[in-house]
Amino acid sequence: MKILVVGSGGREHAIVTSAAKSAKVDKIYCAPGNAGIAALAECVPIGAMEFDKLVAFAKEKEIDFVIIGMDDPLVGGIVDVFEAEGIRVFGPRKNAAILEGSKAFSKDLMKKYHIPTAAYENFTDPKEALRYLETAKMPIVLKADGLALGKGVLICNTLEEARAGVAEIMEEKKFGDAGNTMVIEEFMTGPEVSVLSFVDGKNIRIMTSAQDHKRAKDGDEGLNTGGMGTFSPSPFYTKEIDELCRKTIYQPTVDAMAAEGRPFVGVIFFGLMLTEEGPKVLEFNARFGDPETQVVLPRMKNDMIEVMEACVDGTLDAIDLQFEDNAAVCVVLASDGYPLAYEKGFPITGFENFEGKDDYYCFHAGTKFDDAGRIVTNGGRVLGITAVGDSLKEARTKAYQATEWVDFSNKYMRRDIGKAIDEA
Ligand code: AMP
Ligand code: GLY
Repeated sequence: MKILVVGSGGREHAIVTSAAKSAKVDKIYCAPGNAGIAALAECVPIGAMEFDKLVAFAKEKEIDFVIIGMDDPLVGGIVDVFEAEGIRVFGPRKNAAILEGSKAFSKDLMKKYHIPTAAYENFTDPKEALRYLETAKMPIVLKADGLALGKGVLICNTLEEARAGVAEIMEEKKFGDAGNTMVIEEFMTGPEVSVLSFVDGKNIRIMTSAQDHKRAKDGDEGLNTGGMGTFSPSPFYTKEIDELCRKTIYQPTVDAMAAEGRPFVGVIFFGLMLTEEGPKVLEFNARFGDPETQVVLPRMKNDMIEVMEACVDGTLDAIDLQFEDNAAVCVVLASDGYPLAYEKGFPITGFENFEGKDDYYCFHAGTKFDDAGRIVTNGGRVLGITAVGDSLKEARTKAYQATEWVDFSNKYMRRDIGKAIDEA
């Protein structure tokens, strides 16, 4: 099979790495890809939102199967565009990707189908939002409805902060049109868990759990980022919690989407909070998580392409999804200053240290080749260093050792990825 992966981050490098292991795959293309992906796939300089060019490329190369990694093209309807041309593609159609694309939609869906989530109200008028806040309990959570690079969520401790938040989201439009509608939601507490799943429209297969560290600095301080590191499995996600989620959250979500005439095919990423009242949904994503994928896929036993084809063919019920009984930790090496201003273009050294080491992965997130052919930093998140071990502690020790194998100016990482392991 010839496959095309759309995207350019650490998640796509992990997807390409799994695809390269598949017995079914002969050739991999990636658009636009990065310097690490280029070792396994032929990278083509087409952006993820250039649907017409992507389709033309897929036709020219007679691509058999397309995998969409990123949220923007999915929410924009890239799957519908490929399907209209008769090209097999893994991911939700536009009418299902709305599960991530609109928080107001997903909250209404959960309410209608009794899927546990925080109490909320949706607003399109800032004046009504302000009126609601007058009597609301603090802290409170404000969420821009649409995609906002994971930054459209404000946790407000006081009424003043909440008022300022409404102005930012709905009036100043800090997140653009994503803030035309806003969700105001009850503040919850508890450990957060990311659970990814494969879905074929009717059936769902749950992947192993993971936990992300979203804040830039140690101790969960600093600004929200795309994710500074992950570990898998989450020790908080017990068998009992898994059973409860299967009953109250996972299959009910798949059934709800089907009942709404929006059958979901692809990956549903359940962002969960384990509250004292039980597990509740924080958010849905319509794709693999980044950097969750970098710790989940290396632990998967199945041929990823076979599972994805089963999703597209509606035959997921025949798949027995299995994970190794081990653990993985991913530490993100970022450019100092991320998620705000940072310099890039610095040469990276030490990649050879990963050669021939099965338990270690150096996933590229923001890298490229410069004019001299050197691999240089090209983003806020630069590399995701993943190690697999028998236990979470072992995986963490190995991952942190491996962070020393590569070097570049401006290298920054959190030192406490997986610290929660000790407290669980
Ligand atoms: P989201 O993009 O909806 O997952 O929100 C981003 C982050 O904000 C989550 O990972 C949580 O840490 C936090 N968050 C979102 N909603 C809530 C809530 N209702 N209560 C507490 N924290 C929340
Ligand atoms: N790591 C969180 C996300 O992919 O949205």
